[in-house]
Amino acid sequence: MSKIRKRSQTLLEKNQQWIPGGVVSLNRKSDPNICFKSGRGSRVWDVDGNEYIDYQAGFAATFLGHNDPDVDTAVLKTIKDQAVLMGAGPTELEGEFAQLFCKSVPTVDKLQITTTGSEATYHAIRIARAVTGRDHIIIMQGGYNGWHNDVAGNVISNLQDVGPRVSPGAYPFDALSAGIPEQHKSLVHVINFNDLESVQYITKRFPVACIILEPILQNIGIVKPKKGYLEGLRKMADEKGFLLIFDEVKTGFRHALGGFQSICGVVPDLSTFGKAVANGYPMGVIGGKAAYMDYFIHEQKEKRVLIAGTFNAHPLTTVAAIATLKKLSSPQFNVYAHVERLGKMLEEGLNAIFSGYDKSFYVARQGSAYCVYFMDHAPVDFHDIAVHNDSAFDKAYRLKLIDEGIFNFPLPFKQGSISFAHTEKDIQETLEKTAAVVAALFSKRLQPI
Ligand SMILES: Cc1ncc(COP(=O)(O)O)c(C=O)c1O
Repeated sequence: MSKIRKRSQTLLEKNQQWIPGGVVSLNRKSDPNICFKSGRGSRVWDVDGNEYIDYQAGFAATFLGHNDPDVDTAVLKTIKDQAVLMGAGPTELEGEFAQLFCKSVPTVDKLQITTTGSEATYHAIRIARAVTGRDHIIIMQGGYNGWHNDVAGNVISNLQDVGPRVSPGAYPFDALSAGIPEQHKSLVHVINFNDLESVQYITKRFPVACIILEPILQNIGIVKPKKGYLEGLRKMADEKGFLLIFDEVKTGFRHALGGFQSICGVVPDLSTFGKAVANGYPMGVIGGKAAYMDYFIHEQKEKRVLIAGTFNAHPLTTVAAIATLKKLSSPQFNVYAHVERLGKMLEEGLNAIFSGYDKSFYVARQGSAYCVYFMDHAPVDFHDIAVHNDSAFDKAYRLKLIDEGIFNFPLPFKQGSISFAHTEKDIQETLEKTAAVVAALFSKRLQPI
C-alpha cells in the first residue's frame, strides 16, 4: 500500500517558490518526492511520519549511522567550547585530524581539507595538471567525481547520447550541466571502466595529465575492477607520466580504514575522500605523495596550486571526522567486521529470495555497499548495465520496497549502504519485507524459497 506523502509534496511545492526546482542538490531529486525530517541509527523518518530502514545513508555518507552518539558528543562539545570557526591561521584540530588520517591511509603522506568531495577532485586534477604541464584528463563513463567542469558528465547516460560500446576509443562528453565551455570538454576523454586498451588509445593521441576514477564504480551500483585492471593503470601511469588518482569519496573509509586501495594493493599518486570520513558532516580530503601535495605550499610561487575556502576544515566538521576515525579504528567497536557480517547476511538472503523466481538477477556487494542488478552477471562497465539491466523492473522493485518502509534511492542501479548502526534485526526485517515485495512483483514462481 502506498504511503501517505502529502506533507512531502506540500513542502516541495512551498520550497519551489524560492528554490529553483525545490531542491538544493539536483542529485537529491527523487521520484517519488520524499522529504525527510530526522534520522537515528539505521532509521529515517519523513515529514509525514513514515519510518524507513535506511540504505541511502545520505548518499553513503553516514557510515556509522545517523546521529552517531560519539560524533554528536564531539560536535556539541565544540559548540559549547565556543570554538566554531576562527578563520585565521592553523588549528590544533586540523593537525590532529591530518595526523590520524595519514596513519589510517598509508599512501597519504600529506593532505589538504575541503568542504566537499567535488572540491577534492577539482584540486586533485589541478595538481595533476601543474605537475605534468599537461591539460588532458581521462574519466570513466558511469563514474561520478563531482559537479565541476572537468567531471560533470557521463554518469548514467542515455545510450543514444554516448553510442554503443567502443574500444579502443572514447565516448562523447555527455554533459550533466549547461555552461561547460566546448574547449573544456575537448580536454576530457571518457572511456569505459575495466578497459585498458582505451587508456592506451587516448594517451597515444593526447598529452594526459591524469586519470581519475572510483576504484569501484559505486555511482552505478557496484562495478568491481577486473583482476589486473588497477595494476594495469598504475603501470601505464608510470610509463606515460600521468598521475593515477583514485576517487575514494564513496569507497574510502566504507570498505576499510585505508580505503579500497588498501584492499586492492594498488598505490595511487593522489586520492580524494569525503562522505564517510566525517559521518554526515561536510568534508572532502585530497591526499597522496608528498612530492605532489607540496604543490599546495603557499610560499612556492612558481607552480603553486591554490587551495582556499572560508569553511575548509570547519571545526564542527573536523571534530566529527576525528570522532569518526577514532571509532572506525577502535577494536572495541570492530566496525568493519560488523558491517561485513550484515552485508553477507543481506547478500545471502537476497540471493535466496531471487533464486526462487524466473528472473535474471545479480547481487553485487563490497562490504557494506551492495546493489541488486536485474541481469545475469556481474557488471563490468556502464554499457554492460545499460544494455542488460532490466531498469523498469529495478525501479518498480525500489518503489515497492519504499512503500514497505525500506529506503533505497528510487533510481535503478543506485548503490545501497549498510551502516554500523544497522543490526541483524534490521537485515532480517529488510529480507522479510523484500520477500513479500518480490512475491507481489512476480507472477511466475519456480520453487519455494
Ligand atoms: C565518487 C564520488 N566522488 C565525488 C563526489 C562528489 O562529492 P560531493 O557531493 O561531496 O561534492 C561524489 C558524490 O556523490 C562521489 O560519489
